[in-house]
Amino acid sequence: MEIKPSPPITNASGPNSVTYDELERIARSAAGAVVTKSMTHCPRQGNPEPRLRAHLDGGIGSLNSMGLPNLGYQEYAKLIPKLKGFGKPIIASIASAPCAHGLPPVEQYREIAVTIERAGADALELNLSCPNLEDVPIAMDPQSVRAVLQAVTREVKIPIGVKLPPYNNTPKLFEEIARTLLDFEISYIATINSEPLTLDIDLATRTKVIRPNEGFGGLGGPAVLPIALAEVHRFYKFFRKHRAKIAVWGVGGITKPEDAIKHFLAGASVVQIGTLFLWEGPTVFEKLWAGIEQWLAENGFSSVEEIIGAVREI
Ligand code: DHB
Repeated sequence: MEIKPSPPITNASGPNSVTYDELERIARSAAGAVVTKSMTHCPRQGNPEPRLRAHLDGGIGSLNSMGLPNLGYQEYAKLIPKLKGFGKPIIASIASAPCAHGLPPVEQYREIAVTIERAGADALELNLSCPNLEDVPIAMDPQSVRAVLQAVTREVKIPIGVKLPPYNNTPKLFEEIARTLLDFEISYIATINSEPLTLDIDLATRTKVIRPNEGFGGLGGPAVLPIALAEVHRFYKFFRKHRAKIAVWGVGGITKPEDAIKHFLAGASVVQIGTLFLWEGPTVFEKLWAGIEQWLAENGFSSVEEIIGAVREI
């Protein structure tokens, strides 16, 4: 099963995508789909504040350790039918997190997936890469990735995407994860989640810019663009080599149309916008898409399809 937002640009799960009102604003925008904040089995308040520095010095990006604040999957099951009224695909992002009931992560993914499919979601985006929980992300362990994908793909018919962390410094793990993905019917991967374990310091106060996790958090925005492009390109080439029909959705560092074009050239067929959407709100989709169309026209192309993966070697 496939999901293909049109236009091929959506919000990235996370910023401004927790409440119904936030999601409705995305639904009313020019985005090609609505992606929810990762929902967990239990509702979560998230980490203590300050947990987000939206603007790092020099405009290089944002840093956060939100701790997955969200309404809990049962609330999202209620609001999805209403959101569907806006006529665009609803992509439900799902994560696991420690909770009083002690349900194992695989069971959490399975239960949420089944309920949310029944609620009418058009696709699921399995977030296997939240950088801000105590546990090592599932995406760092091929066996765990296999267990989650087995549990979810067995029970769910709607398209499934998988949100992955950067593997830029772990080539062997990249290979193992990519091979694991080949064994499942997955519609797309979204790469990258924020760059984990990053730190910034406020010089005026000589404090760390966020409180949780001793100041360490996930980096997004312009600083991560080259990392995201590399991940998109590596996965794109890997899937092509193995004739896998898994689309690569590019996430990371897009603040202008030219950045999105780079993602498409690297192999992305859809792009997601995180930090820029955090900064500027739902008008970013219309602005970026207009700029993408203009770039295509000026360079003699009539659709994004013509440039996907078309980067040249030098
Ligand atoms: C959070 C989750 C993510 O997947 C991410 O990239 C950044 C932050 C969070 O809620 O902590």
